[in-house]
Amino acid sequence: MGYKVAVVGATGAVGREMLQTLAERNFPADKVYALASSKSIGQEVSYGDDEILIVEALDKFDFAAAEIALFSAGGDTAKTYAPIAGQAGCLVIDNSSAFRMDDDVPLVVPEVNPDSVPSSLIENGGRNIIANPNCSTAQLVVALKPLHDAFIIKRVVVSTYQAVSGAGRPAMDELFNQTKGIYVNDAVQPEIFTKQIAFNAIPHIDIFLDDGFTKEEWKMTAETKKILDPTIELVAHCVRIPVFVGHSEAVFIETQQPMTEKAVRGLLGDAPGVIVVDHRANEGYVTPHEAAGEDAVYISRIRQDPTVTNGMVFWCVSDNLRKGAALNSVQIAELIAAQDIRGR
Ligand code: A2P
Repeated sequence: MGYKVAVVGATGAVGREMLQTLAERNFPADKVYALASSKSIGQEVSYGDDEILIVEALDKFDFAAAEIALFSAGGDTAKTYAPIAGQAGCLVIDNSSAFRMDDDVPLVVPEVNPDSVPSSLIENGGRNIIANPNCSTAQLVVALKPLHDAFIIKRVVVSTYQAVSGAGRPAMDELFNQTKGIYVNDAVQPEIFTKQIAFNAIPHIDIFLDDGFTKEEWKMTAETKKILDPTIELVAHCVRIPVFVGHSEAVFIETQQPMTEKAVRGLLGDAPGVIVVDHRANEGYVTPHEAAGEDAVYISRIRQDPTVTNGMVFWCVSDNLRKGAALNSVQIAELIAAQDIRGR
């Protein structure tokens, strides 16, 4: 018997991708509900290539009608509605940061810690919430996992180059309209971003914390520890760039055990969810433009770091709406379906 699935935030950048991914991967859904705010009631969204769903209002929806809910409607909406859904016996997979660091909420990347998915709803503390990590963390830990297993990662330094779709559809519109406007000399008026995003790079994602890091940078550290290993030290510098889809990361790792470039290339090449494209020639690497619409985490530019004892550097690119959000959520739903954990 298939599942009744609700997608919360179905009109958004990630929500639309969730519907697409559920259909593409033939998730065993008997019924799919598309939910958004009341201003979107009656709007049509695609579910795969052939089906259209009519958007319903989240605040009027009875979660007893659904068994799994994929949430991507922001932290505040999740804080209000995920507990309501959970109490109704619906298992929530939430893409926001609202619950990620809660002790009783598993934070899951299926290639890395599939065993963190509870085997029953009761084991999940009755809250029935599983969290999806931040988009930059998801693609990073998929690449770090095989290297940590083999060589024990001590420290990671990561600089990100993040697409605007990570900030939602209005952010994509802002980049589009600003870019057009600049060509006709319109004055730039940032609304979503703090500064001009077109033809620029903004070293500021999410709020500033007391120690000078941004919350996005903190999330990468805290979430990597929770998903992979609390002993890993990670320092991040996160930058928004004028790319619509696809997050890029320059990653510097230091390990306990010595590693060769060949071994790293081999391990990453065999790792689930990873594709290595690294030819040290023109076109021999992957850019975010090429990763957009794809499921894999792409690794290029692997090279030894000569400045530390056991160090390696690489470039890591992935579609932030897919592995960073929708795909990861659907993969978690697939783990749930495989174990047939359901509330009713
Ligand atoms: P809506 O389009 O009706 O505002 P994005 O991250 O791309 O901006 O998308 C956010 C998604 O979350 C949209 O589908 C949006 O719906 C939905 N959303 C935001 N706030 C609420 C809310 N309070 N109730 C229901 N859905 C919401």
